[in-house]
Amino acid sequence: MSNSQEPVVSLRNVTKRIGRRTIIDNLSFDVPQGEIFGFLGPNGAGKTTTIRMMVGLMSITNGEILIKGRNIKTEFEQAIRHVGAIVENPEMYKFMSGYHNLIHYARMASGVTKERIREVVELVKLEDRIHDKVRRYSLGMRQRLGVAQAMLHRPSLLILDEPTNGLDPAGIRELRDYLRYLTREEGITVIVSSHLLSEMELMCDRVAVLMHGKLVDVKGIHEFIGSNTTGQTYLIEASPAEAALAALHSFDGVEAKAVPEGVEVVTDRDRIPGILNYLMQKNIDIYGVRAMRQSLEDRFLEMTGGERVG
Ligand SMILES: Nc1ncnc2c1ncn2[C@@H]1O[C@H](COP(=O)(O)OP(=O)(O)O)[C@@H](O)[C@H]1O
Ligand SMILES: [Mg+2]
Repeated sequence: MSNSQEPVVSLRNVTKRIGRRTIIDNLSFDVPQGEIFGFLGPNGAGKTTTIRMMVGLMSITNGEILIKGRNIKTEFEQAIRHVGAIVENPEMYKFMSGYHNLIHYARMASGVTKERIREVVELVKLEDRIHDKVRRYSLGMRQRLGVAQAMLHRPSLLILDEPTNGLDPAGIRELRDYLRYLTREEGITVIVSSHLLSEMELMCDRVAVLMHGKLVDVKGIHEFIGSNTTGQTYLIEASPAEAALAALHSFDGVEAKAVPEGVEVVTDRDRIPGILNYLMQKNIDIYGVRAMRQSLEDRFLEMTGGERVG
């Protein structure tokens, strides 16, 4: 992606050491304006630590972080002005309405008007429920209220740490839609973290893969998904699943394992008709076949030359 503008965020050789441990190791990347950028990595990879340094909640051992050209260490006020963030689960007063929570936060920021509150409520599509108590909100609605709160002071960069945690697929789709809306309509830049490739894939333009505090790769999400070199994984919904698994174990060139929905096989596409025919001959019922994306773990194994995650 070419962009002649100054990046909204720049990390330059950022390192974090705690005691003798290096938690983040020489991390560098840029995020241009209007992008939805993902941090992807297993638990403990260093996503939250990186975000905490970006918003000044944790000191940086070495290197620098610039937000709109301002150094978060030496020009904190000017840098943080551009940032809205949800680092841990947003703290909400559950006994108050969503609206009163926003009023409460608006008092702590300067220059937030009632009109702006109305705007952010509309932005996250909470108009119908904003006067309900937060304790009656679904997790997805609480997330949206959190985003509304983070957006109150019109940041140009929104940072959300694991925003899809606990959301159902509908909630994830909603989140994706309004993050898209924010980037397209408001020119906001978004950084989200996740340990799930499948979610990053739907949400992000580019993804930085972190492992053990190191940047493994930064890629456009499509390059990422399209680059698998091993055989494709297919899910065969078959019943009885044990019989299908037993049958497939005697099939050459096919790796099979049991999953809750049936059997997962790794093979080439042109083998699929033969496999299905064979299963049907064995009186196994087939309810569906789906091509699966490679799992995050598989991609990590490929990118890191076989080093296990977690
Ligand atoms: N305050 C801290 N003191 C010591 N170790 C920490 C601290 N915060 C995080 N870590 C360690 O840093 C590593 C990265 O953690 P974290 O950034 O939370 O990862 P992620 O968000 O990707 O799951 C983990 O091994 C974690 O145990
Ligand atoms: Mg984390």
